[in-house]
Amino acid sequence: MSLTQLRENGASAPIRPVTAQALLEMKRAGLAITALTAYDYPTARLVDQAGIDLILVGDSVGMTVLGYESTLPVTMEEMLHHTRAVARGVKRAFLVADMPFGSYQASFDEAIRNATRFIKEAGAHAVKIEGGERRADLVRRMTDAEISVVAHIGLTPQSFHRMSGYHVQGRSIEAIESLYADAAALQDAGAVAIVLEGIPREVAAEATRRCEVPTIGIGAGPDCDGQILVFHDLVNLTFSPPAKFVRRYADAATFFGSALERYRCDVTERTFPADAESYHLSREVAVQVEALEEHPNVLVRADALAKSDVVDDPFEEFTKLVPTGRG
Ligand code: KIV
Repeated sequence: MSLTQLRENGASAPIRPVTAQALLEMKRAGLAITALTAYDYPTARLVDQAGIDLILVGDSVGMTVLGYESTLPVTMEEMLHHTRAVARGVKRAFLVADMPFGSYQASFDEAIRNATRFIKEAGAHAVKIEGGERRADLVRRMTDAEISVVAHIGLTPQSFHRMSGYHVQGRSIEAIESLYADAAALQDAGAVAIVLEGIPREVAAEATRRCEVPTIGIGAGPDCDGQILVFHDLVNLTFSPPAKFVRRYADAATFFGSALERYRCDVTERTFPADAESYHLSREVAVQVEALEEHPNVLVRADALAKSDVVDDPFEEFTKLVPTGRG
């Protein structure tokens, strides 16, 4: 095993990748854990460079990027494809891949086989699965198979039909007790962190107090050990009004929309591309081309033209194709 440490290009200090142990130490030290989703290489780079501790390739990719109505249709192949792209852009963050609906429910063996693919083929550091106490045995099996698991309880979008829609969970005494039991069972089974989604602040605060492993909240108030948001919610790329718990830090829809509108105008008005954005003939060849235009019956060999033109840029290669003049 090599213990060579990563270094950012040109930087002298090595990058210390975030591990499950580091997240645990952050909880113990009372340091807030930052988490965000990413689904592709450029956003993964931006999120990682912003110093976000945990990046989740969420199955929310189905809605934010792939245009599905819910997360339910997302497949293993789609999740692996996006996880690979994100992994190529991440140097520091703890990278978690969401297991899609249907990939871990049928049997322990299939679940472990699928989870292994995220670690082995796609470069994830952990997988996330939805569900409470009833997933504890699976979390234990995966942990035994050296796969780190992030659990996800409360509003679990893959249970959309069973929950009859997306509703805040844990509002009754019974539901609250059951959430605490879920968190305890998952932690005992080996989960390295627990996502708490769509539950009252008071319940999330108490669950966080009871848990030894970090809780990461989304729509669960400020008292969790960390917070996660969906990237597209944070930058306004969802084409729909935000949920109550979302804070928008940028307006990417307006930013990109105005850039696209200006591009369209520039092309229709023929102001793009400008001369400075075009490739040019060398002066020598330009003179020969001019001469050809004036005396079209003089035959000039294309390769002779090419030799007189020192081409550094491969895009300039087309100059070799200047046609011979024919009278
Ligand atoms: O898929 C996802 O983005 C998630 C987060 C909302 C936690 O599961």
